[in-house]
Amino acid sequence: MSETAKLKIGDNSYEFPIIKGSENELAIDIKTLRGETNGVITIDPGYKNTGACKSAITFLNGEKGVLRYRGYSIEDLAEKADFLEVAYLLIFGELPTKEKLVKFHSDIKENAIVDDDVRKILDAFPKIAHPMGILSSLTSALTAFNPSSVNVDSDEEMYRAIVKIMGKLPVLVSWAMRKINGLPLNYGSNSLGYVENVMNMMFSKPNEEYTVNPIVKDALNKLLILHADHEQNCSTSTVRIVGSSHAGLFASLSAGISALWGPLHGGANQAVLEMLESIKEDGGDTKKYMAKAKDKNDPFRLMGFGHRVYKNFDPRAKIIKVAADQVLNDLGIDDPILDVAKSLEQEALNDPYFVDRKLYPNVDFYSGIIYRAMGIPVEMFTVMFALGRLPGWIAQWREMRLGKEPIGRPRQIYTGESLRKFKAIQKR
Ligand code: CMC
Repeated sequence: MSETAKLKIGDNSYEFPIIKGSENELAIDIKTLRGETNGVITIDPGYKNTGACKSAITFLNGEKGVLRYRGYSIEDLAEKADFLEVAYLLIFGELPTKEKLVKFHSDIKENAIVDDDVRKILDAFPKIAHPMGILSSLTSALTAFNPSSVNVDSDEEMYRAIVKIMGKLPVLVSWAMRKINGLPLNYGSNSLGYVENVMNMMFSKPNEEYTVNPIVKDALNKLLILHADHEQNCSTSTVRIVGSSHAGLFASLSAGISALWGPLHGGANQAVLEMLESIKEDGGDTKKYMAKAKDKNDPFRLMGFGHRVYKNFDPRAKIIKVAADQVLNDLGIDDPILDVAKSLEQEALNDPYFVDRKLYPNVDFYSGIIYRAMGIPVEMFTVMFALGRLPGWIAQWREMRLGKEPIGRPRQIYTGESLRKFKAIQKR
């Protein structure tokens, strides 16, 4: 007999089925709750206990610090895979054969040109514009240049929209960075691998030949893989919910980019580096900042610490910490910021405030140090996160559309005024 959950409201009892995921996670299926109970709903601000969908893409166990894409451990993928292989895995469910990967890459390359008129939109942004705002706007603008990407009723149409954005987003990312650095825009080279081409587009200068540094390439490949998906986080849920209205893929991704921008989500990587910088400038007194983070009257939070779902450790942070050490070592960079980060981490890991609340370094705590070593400006850090997250967003959007999920539309408990009579302005 299948398990059920019993609910009692007043004198009435109700029973709801319990569903089980492939890793034995349990959920009470309340689809019929409102109908059966004559209007009762559940309320869960921040969705801390609410599953919005079933998904076969990413498995995460926050208590045990486990993260897997389509069944493959993040540790295995970060060490052995190529970002484009991981993108294929996330989107289509299986690691590609060599032929499939070559075809995927060549379809992406064929669609990597961004209409030259998009430059004019970019030109209209002030130089001080945050690149996440630019990326979100230009991604949305791509719909106007590719109207066929909106109606994706067949597999073929969906595939075309996917390879278009996989090709065009890196161009927009590089343009956002080149604008900051005052460099002419470029379109990259089809003779390069996906990650090498991203680097070429971002870093090449008009007056010298660009050669890819393998250390930087490996680190970037790893960072992109580690950021590629993270199940139903804020930006991914945004992509799914916007897409559920059948807005196009690019509009849904643009909304996801905006959600990622916030400092409590992807924007944390920029905030971490700015925090570490200001601690260093202030004399490197990490204890002072630990005290501020614990003071409930001080809005300061230790950026890069804590996670909604990881309550043990963030497996991505473990990998990134080692990578940060390696990259700085290999590139011969002695960054004092790394010492500030290590000392903050040590103090937090031994402090009852952080231990009791299960606050551990998250993916963003060390990623900025690597980006900085690569020569990427701090405002671009969250853009790099978006580039990595792209295949995850696409995979989740595709799963939602193929699963014919209904439009996302939460309910609420109304706490405002009851019916009142309109008062003419003279009587207010
Ligand atoms: N510094 C100091 N105190 C903290 C921190 C922090 N970074 N994070 C959480 N707390 C405290 C919080 O004040 C609360 O204390 P109390 O129980 O006494 O009221 C307790 O820990 C629980 O925090 P919460 O805000 O209820 O937890 P949440 O699950 O709603 O928030 C979070 C998760 C990531 C938004 C939060 O930990 C945070 O703001 N961290 C800093 C920003 C950050 O690094 N974000 C990147 C997340 S990883 C990248 C991504 O996937 O987006």
